[in-house]
Amino acid sequence: MIKLDISKALVSADKVAAFEGKIAETQQALENGTCAGNDFLGWLHLPSSITAEFMTELQECAQTLRENCDTVVVAGIGGSYLGARAVIEALSNSFQWLTNNGENPTILFAGNNIGEDYLYELTEYLKDKKFGVINISKSGTTTETALAFRLLKKQCEEQRGKDVARKVIVAITDAKKGAARTCANKEGYTSFIIPDNVGGRFSVLTPVGLLPIAVAGFDITKLVKGAADMEQATAPSVPFSENISAQYAAVRNALYQEGKKIEILVNFQPKLHFMNEWWKQLYGESEGKEGKGIFPAAVDFSTDLHSMGQWIQEGERTIFETVVSIEEPEHKLLFPSDEENLDGLNFLAGKRVDEVNKMAELGTQLAHVDGGVPNMRLIVPRLDEYNLGQIIYFFEKACGISGLLLNVNPFNQPGVEAYKKNMFALLGKPGYEKETEAIKGRLNS
Ligand code: PA5
Repeated sequence: MIKLDISKALVSADKVAAFEGKIAETQQALENGTCAGNDFLGWLHLPSSITAEFMTELQECAQTLRENCDTVVVAGIGGSYLGARAVIEALSNSFQWLTNNGENPTILFAGNNIGEDYLYELTEYLKDKKFGVINISKSGTTTETALAFRLLKKQCEEQRGKDVARKVIVAITDAKKGAARTCANKEGYTSFIIPDNVGGRFSVLTPVGLLPIAVAGFDITKLVKGAADMEQATAPSVPFSENISAQYAAVRNALYQEGKKIEILVNFQPKLHFMNEWWKQLYGESEGKEGKGIFPAAVDFSTDLHSMGQWIQEGERTIFETVVSIEEPEHKLLFPSDEENLDGLNFLAGKRVDEVNKMAELGTQLAHVDGGVPNMRLIVPRLDEYNLGQIIYFFEKACGISGLLLNVNPFNQPGVEAYKKNMFALLGKPGYEKETEAIKGRLNS
């Protein structure tokens, strides 16, 4: 199992222990469905409730896409894409995943921005590809995703014909409402339902994440097993001192109370970049409300030690870090010896690249702790499906507990609507006439 090391968190054991009672209550409220946001607790026992039949259904759909496509575009934004991307990038070869390695379809992502160049270049790239689309939107109405899907649907139908398009376009959306559901029903697409009681950022273990991950060729059974084992390992019956989600929630809240307002999630493996992005959304949307919440930021080390390292070491002391540390890489690479030793690196000859990386990690921890940056480490034996499943559930459970400790509803995101209202008013969307007038007035004043 993955482990959490809080020994360098620079917070007293008493302060952490002080959260035990409150966390026990919070865990119980989650179990009983009596906490804030209790209509969105479907994620809590999701891993242990996924049936073998459902996995087979997903795998069959994935197989159809794998057999009929060299490229699959996943259209979705926020919780409807970050989890899938995080897992796929963490498990993929850093250089082959964008250049179809022959065995697996190339997975591309769209519908997560409105960049004209991005969409133009995507449609150009797809021109000679046998591509399919997984259209993911819980509401079925998200503008970014709907715009991309409109373009992709048309191109897929024109390139591959309506009949094939019908086979290689899959919808993952609400059971009844939203434009994505209407379209899927009308066109007869294979579709999967996003459960009502699972919010976007908690949905990676629903078809939202599982289908794209299976299409990419990864073992979703192991992913779900890892999550289910973590569900057990963080259950209310597990003692506080052994429950890593409870410990993480306690430490970060203790630090927040001491003025540590920013948490950075750190990796030393570039493949984890999108895991950082997924985590940022999970914690940002869950906790950042009512004028409260730790600001979730993320860095890729050692890369960002050369950009953000100075701030972290010596900037305002309002920051703490959580390092996702991978114990064993998949591959082995030794530094060669060089007769001339012009670069002076012969002292590393015969050492593994990872040994240098690990010393960078340890050296950074020592320096940051000396600089007053509390440090937690999530220790992960290796990057595989099982451990990623554990990481996902560990962070989800801790997030639910942590948000409730802050006294906010961790499962809503009312603030996300503000920009949408303005954008629709500015674009003159029917139904927004009053807002359009108001916004024009504001811009002209
Ligand atoms: O966590 C959330 O609820 C959001 O990030 C959504 O996932 C995101 O806005 C996309 O919404 P939808 O799936 O409705 O298109």
